[in-house]
Amino acid sequence: MTRPQRTIIIMNKRIVVVSGASKGIGLAFVKYHLMSPVPTTVYALSRSRSHEIDILSKQYAQSPSSQIHHVPCDLIDDNSIFNAVNVIKEQCRKDDEKLGIDLLVNVAGILGNNTTEQPGPERSIGSIQRNWMKTSFEVSFPSINYFQV
Ligand SMILES: NC(=O)c1ccc[n+]([C@@H]2O[C@H](COP(=O)([O-])OP(=O)(O)OC[C@H]3O[C@@H](n4cnc5c(N)ncnc54)[C@H](OP(=O)(O)O)[C@@H]3O)[C@@H](O)[C@H]2O)c1
Repeated sequence: MTRPQRTIIIMNKRIVVVSGASKGIGLAFVKYHLMSPVPTTVYALSRSRSHEIDILSKQYAQSPSSQIHHVPCDLIDDNSIFNAVNVIKEQCRKDDEKLGIDLLVNVAGILGNNTTEQPGPERSIGSIQRNWMKTSFEVSFPSINYFQV
């Protein structure tokens, strides 16, 4: 009697980039992908490095499957996006991983002004102001062409 043949599937590591990763919805996506059964390297983009990102970085530092790298990036600054892409490319080389992003989760965004008591005029259509809309769109819809690593 012959033994049934077993198929071994070797899965490549996934490369996932999450913007707006330091808190809120972006942070939730970071955690979701780190916990995936598929080995995943998560590049977490935001201007600041939050306490939660620090904790996750320590937690996954020795993990044989998934990793997280925080990459500082300001999405309204083209040079900052360009630098972030180069950081990701360099890290992929160091980790001996394929060059190519499997998934870009572009969460970063702003709605209103978090720094004052004023919620911001773009929250209601009747009070939209050009400058507020411009800033919101610059953060929320940066050129994703940069991420075609
Ligand atoms: N939460 C909701 O219920 C909800 C509902 C509908 C729509 N939304 C929209 O979904 C988006 C995310 O919501 P959220 O609740 O997760 O917001 P959040 O908690 O305020 O998080 C925003 C994230 O975006 C990053 N960010 C902001 N400006 C940035 C910039 N210039 N460059 C790079 N990163 C930047 C922030 O990190 P740094 O400050 O460190 O850069 C942070 O990680 C927003 O556009 C929000 O309006 C949210």
